[in-house]
Amino acid sequence: MKNAEPYRRIGSGMRANILKYLAVALLASAPLALHAQSGEETVSKYTRKGADTCLSCHEDAAALAIFATAHAVPLDPRSPFGHGQLQCEACHGPGDTHAGRVRRGAERPPLIYFNERDNTAVEVENSMCMDCHASDVGIGWHAGAHAFDEVSCADCHQSHARVDAVTQTSTQAEVCAACHQLQKNETLKAFAHPLFEEKMSCTACHGMHGDTVAAQLARVTLNDTCYQCHADKRGPYLWEHAPVSEDCGLCHAPHGSNHPGMLTQRAPLLCQGCHSQDGHPSVAYEDDGLASAMPSRYLLAQGCMNCHSQVHGSNHPSGTKLTR
Ligand code: HEC
Ligand code: HEC
Ligand code: HEC
Ligand code: HEC
Ligand code: HEC
Ligand code: HEC
Ligand code: HEC
Ligand code: HEC
Ligand code: HEC
Ligand code: HEC
Repeated sequence: MKNAEPYRRIGSGMRANILKYLAVALLASAPLALHAQSGEETVSKYTRKGADTCLSCHEDAAALAIFATAHAVPLDPRSPFGHGQLQCEACHGPGDTHAGRVRRGAERPPLIYFNERDNTAVEVENSMCMDCHASDVGIGWHAGAHAFDEVSCADCHQSHARVDAVTQTSTQAEVCAACHQLQKNETLKAFAHPLFEEKMSCTACHGMHGDTVAAQLARVTLNDTCYQCHADKRGPYLWEHAPVSEDCGLCHAPHGSNHPGMLTQRAPLLCQGCHSQDGHPSVAYEDDGLASAMPSRYLLAQGCMNCHSQVHGSNHPSGTKLTR
C-alpha cells in the first residue's frame, strides 16, 4: 500500500509553510532539494501537498516536533522528508480522505495513527517503519517475542520526540517497565543492577529488536552476556566451580534480589541446594536460626563462603576446594 506512488506530490505546490519549519530545524542553512514534479495527477490516495496539507490542521507542538528528529533531513534521500519522499505520509500512510472534507457530525476517516483509535493492525503499522528500516531491525525481529505478541515499533519509539526515550540509557528502563512491571519490581529490590538509577539500560543484556536467543539476550549465552561487564568471572580458573561456567543464573537473579550479591538464595541454603554433607556436615538451620540435629562449625554465621571464599573459581595451586 505504501510508497507505491511516490514522488508525485512534492511539487510546486510545496508552500512556504513546510519550508519554514524545515529551515528552522536546519538553522536556515541547507538548500532544500525539493524539486517540482509537475502536473502528475494520479489516483493515489496520498495528499497532493504532503506535509503542508497535514500542517494546515496539525500545527501543534507535538506534531511539529518531528522536524527536530533524525527523520526530517531533506538532504537525505532516505529520510521521510528527503527529496521525493512522502513526508508525514511515509509513516502515517495515504491521507487524502483523512485530510479531506468531512460532513458535519461525521467522523474524520483515520489514517495510520499508531494508537488504538484507528483499528490498524500492528503489522501494518510496523510495515510503515520496516519499509525503511528492515535492515536496521534485522530478521531477528520476526523471531522475537515482541513481534509475536504484536508489540509495535511505536510502543517503544517516540517518533515525534526530539529525544527518543528508549534510546537513552537514563530513560530506557521506564519505557520497558510500562509493560514489564515484574522486572521493574525485581530491580527495585535491595541488591540490583542500577537500571532505575539511570546508569544502565535493559539492552545492556537484552537484544533490542529480537533474536532466537532465549530471553532475547544480547549475547549467545547468558554467561557471555554477563562477561561483557564482569570479565573477571570468566576465568579460566585452575579450579573451576562447575555451575559458574555453566550459568550465572544458577546463583544470581539477573534483575535484582533481596539477598546480598543479588543471590537467588542466601548461603548456606544456596549451596545446599546442590551440595550434600559430603566432606563435612552441612546441615541446615531451623526456622529459629539454630542449627538442626547436628550442630556444625561449618554452618557458623551461615557462612560457607567464610572458608570457600573463591566461589567463582580459584587460581591458587591448592584452591581445589575453593578456599583460597
Ligand atoms: C482538515 C484538517 C486535517 C487535516 C488536513 C489533517 N488532519 Fe489529521 N486530524 C484532524 C482531526 C480533526 C483529528 C482528530 C480526529 C479524531 O479525534 O477522531 C486528526 C487526527 C489525526 C491523527 C491522530 C491523532 C490522535 O491523537 O490520535 C493523526 C496521526 C493525524 N491526524 C495525522 C494527519 C496527517 C499525517 C495528515 C496529513 C496527511 C493530517 N492528519 C491531515 C484534522 C486534520
Ligand atoms: C517517522 C515516522 C513519522 C513521520 C515522518 C511523522 N509521524 Fe506523526 N506519528 C508517528 C508515530 C509513530 C506516532 C505515534 C506517537 C509517537 O510515537 O510519537 C505519531 C503521532 C502523530 C500525531 C498524534 C500524536 C501527537 O504527537 O500529536 C499526529 C497529529 C501526527 N503524528 C502528525 C504528523 C504530521 C503532521 C507529520 C508530518 C509533518 C508526521 N506526523 C510525521 C510517526 C511519524
Ligand atoms: C522513508 C523512510 C523512513 C521511514 C518510513 C521511517 N524511518 Fe526511521 N529513519 C529513517 C532515516 C533515513 C533515519 C536516519 C538514519 C541515519 O541517520 O542513519 C532514520 C532514523 C531512525 C531512528 C534512529 C533515530 C536516531 O536518533 O538516530 C529510529 C529509532 C527510527 N528511525 C525509527 C523509525 C520508526 C519507529 C518508524 C515508523 C514509525 C520509522 N523510523 C520510519 C528513515 C525512515
Ligand atoms: C522493545 C522496544 C523496541 C521495539 C519494539 C523496537 N525498538 Fe527499535 N530500538 C530499541 C532500542 C532500545 C534501540 C537502541 C537505541 C540505542 O541503543 O541507541 C533501538 C534502535 C532502533 C533504531 C536505530 C538504529 C539501530 O539499529 O541502532 C532503529 C532504526 C529502530 N530501532 C527501528 C525500529 C523499528 C522499525 C521497529 C519496529 C519493527 C522497532 N525499532 C521496534 C527498542 C525497540
Ligand atoms: C508495549 C509493551 C512492551 C514494551 C514497551 C516492551 N515489551 Fe518486552 N515484551 C512485551 C510482551 C507482550 C512480551 C511477550 C510476553 C512476555 O514474555 O512477557 C515481551 C517479552 C520480552 C522479553 C522476553 C523475550 C523472550 O524471548 O522470552 C524480553 C527480554 C523483553 N520483552 C524485553 C524488553 C525490553 C528490554 C524493553 C524495552 C527496551 C521492552 N521489552 C519493552 C511487551 C513489551
Ligand atoms: C544484567 C543483565 C540484565 C539486565 C540489565 C536486564 N535483564 Fe532481563 N533478563 C536477564 C536474564 C539473564 C534473563 C533470563 C532469566 C532466566 O532465564 O531466568 C532475563 C529475562 C527477562 C525477561 C523474560 C522473563 C521470562 O521469564 O521469560 C524479561 C521480560 C526481561 N528480562 C525484561 C527486562 C527489562 C524490562 C529490563 C530493564 C528494566 C531488563 N530485563 C534488564 C538479564 C538482564
Ligand atoms: C552493562 C554491564 C553489566 C552487565 C552486562 C552485567 N552487569 Fe552485573 N553489574 C554491573 C554493575 C555496574 C554493577 C554494580 C552495581 C552497583 O555497584 O550498584 C553490577 C553488579 C553485579 C553484582 C553484584 C551486586 C551486588 O549487590 O554486589 C552481581 C552479582 C552481578 N552484577 C551479576 C551479573 C550477572 C549474573 C550478569 C549477567 C546476567 C551481569 N551482572 C551483567 C554491570 C553489568
Ligand atoms: C555457585 C553460585 C554462584 C554462581 C554460579 C555465580 N556466582 Fe557470583 N557470587 C556468588 C556468591 C556466593 C557471591 C558473594 C555474594 C556476597 O557478596 O555475599 C557472588 C558474588 C558475585 C559478584 C559481586 C562480588 C564480586 O565478586 O565481584 C559478582 C559481580 C558476581 N558474583 C558475578 C557472577 C557472574 C558474572 C557469574 C557467572 C559467570 C556468577 N557470579 C556465578 C555465587 C555464585
Ligand atoms: C547449582 C549447583 C551448585 C551450587 C548452587 C553450588 N555448587 Fe558447589 N559445586 C557444584 C558442582 C556440580 C561442583 C563440582 C562437583 C565435582 O566436581 O564433583 C561443585 C564443587 C564445589 C566445591 C569443590 C568440591 C570439590 O570436591 O572439588 C566446593 C568447595 C563448592 N562447590 C562449594 C560451594 C559453595 C560454598 C556454594 C555456595 C556458595 C556452592 N558450592 C554452590 C554445584 C553447585
Ligand atoms: C570452617 C570452614 C568451612 C566452612 C564454614 C565450610 N567449609 Fe566446606 N570445606 C572446608 C574444608 C577445609 C574442606 C576441604 C575438606 C577436605 O579436603 O577434606 C571443605 C570441603 C567442602 C566440599 C568438598 C567436599 C568433598 O567431598 O571434598 C564441599 C562441597 C563443601 N566443603 C561445601 C561447603 C558448604 C556447602 C558449606 C556451607 C554449608 C561449607 N562447605 C562450609 C571448610 C569449610
